[in-house]
Amino acid sequence: MSVVPAPLDNNSCDTAIRASFLHFDGDPDQRGDACEYLEDGLMILRQGRIQMLEPAPDLIDLLPDGCLLYDYSGRLVMPGFIDTHCHYPQTEMIASFGSQLLDWLRQYTFPTEEKFADREHADKIAAFFCDQMLANGTTTGALYATVYPQSVDAIFEQAQQRDLCLIAGKVMMDRNAPAALLDSAESSYRDCSELIRRWHLHGRSYYAVTPRFAPCSSPAQLEVCGQLLNENPDLYLQSHVAENLDEVAWVAELFPQSRSYLDVYDSFGLLGPRSIYGHCIHLDRQDRERMAASGAAIAFCPTSNLFLGSGLFSLEDALAQNIRVGIATDVGAGTSFSMLQTLAEAYKVCQLGGQQLTPLKAFYLATLGAAESLYLDHRIGNFATGKEADFVVFDLAATELMQCRMDNASTMEERLFALMMLGDDRAIQATHIMGKRQYSRPS
Ligand code: GUN
Ligand code: ZN
Repeated sequence: MSVVPAPLDNNSCDTAIRASFLHFDGDPDQRGDACEYLEDGLMILRQGRIQMLEPAPDLIDLLPDGCLLYDYSGRLVMPGFIDTHCHYPQTEMIASFGSQLLDWLRQYTFPTEEKFADREHADKIAAFFCDQMLANGTTTGALYATVYPQSVDAIFEQAQQRDLCLIAGKVMMDRNAPAALLDSAESSYRDCSELIRRWHLHGRSYYAVTPRFAPCSSPAQLEVCGQLLNENPDLYLQSHVAENLDEVAWVAELFPQSRSYLDVYDSFGLLGPRSIYGHCIHLDRQDRERMAASGAAIAFCPTSNLFLGSGLFSLEDALAQNIRVGIATDVGAGTSFSMLQTLAEAYKVCQLGGQQLTPLKAFYLATLGAAESLYLDHRIGNFATGKEADFVVFDLAATELMQCRMDNASTMEERLFALMMLGDDRAIQATHIMGKRQYSRPS
């Protein structure tokens, strides 16, 4: 009779990871025991999916021959970060000086995005962007491409080469932008339909209908967005709303019949599950009620909101009204690819609003909370059995300062807080996608 438990034969275990593990099986604000921490754990994988996570001493001697063991003893492993709003074409204009949203779009963004008519340029930046995601422990992203369909092909191809989970779409804009960047209601319908057919629900790729924001789309084009959502199952929709006060005033002029900026999107049927709205700083109570009732998500973009001087998002108000919230870098208005740095700035934004973002809540929002906000928590977000094994390996002593601070920390929560305040890409030792190591920090 075999003494090896059924799950641990060669058919059910091809990879194992030994490390300290931390993940969530719920919202730590709702349930005191939602955070699971295993000091010395062993995670067993089969074909990129999680089979079990148990104390290592119970299992380590039972691994079958031929099982690939990654020994990260002494390191902390968490689910990969999920970036809920980002613009890959803006990578090379990150940190552009001096303006707020509308001028920043005209001065820097539009000229930069025009370069993506060139497929070779799009390929080059898409590859660099995906490598930056991996180097920062980000394993899933909701991304904007540009108005050019080939820029969408470029990012999905690069993501698929690395097995990244990706939500992305062609930016739609048929007015109020340079002529070279304009599509039309009809052409955007054709282009998006073709891109949906090519990419949506293929492997780990999801298509997002992506009207840039209400000022850049005519009512006819917003209608097309609603039509695409109706015609195709499980599509995402992503856009910007209520980021900047001049923008809000402009939308009020363009759509005088709408009660609010959010109401413009709502009136075209663009608010529902799998709708992701960036920023949402200047929403009112009624808007937030609609966000919550519709099942849409807010992408909270702290570095971007500070960089463009857009305002202080109230996380407390959003959560109090039960809206789904994820955290986002929003590169290139955001100033870092690092979700650690993004959490640090989220903490400071909350401080300025008299609110507190605890480290447990912060890491929840960047992992399982984000997966829930995107309706992807059946696939990713934590280490539950059956989920896809996307994870990041942290080195908590990556710098001398981090080492010094960690030596003086007595609880896991203290260490997590120091990690998010002091950490960046230097703290990412490795990033795994579907169990496979896709990034390893140069030594
Ligand atoms: N609103 C419309 N387009 C953009 C963009 O590219 N970045 C940000 N931050 N806001 C926007
Ligand atoms: Zn954005």
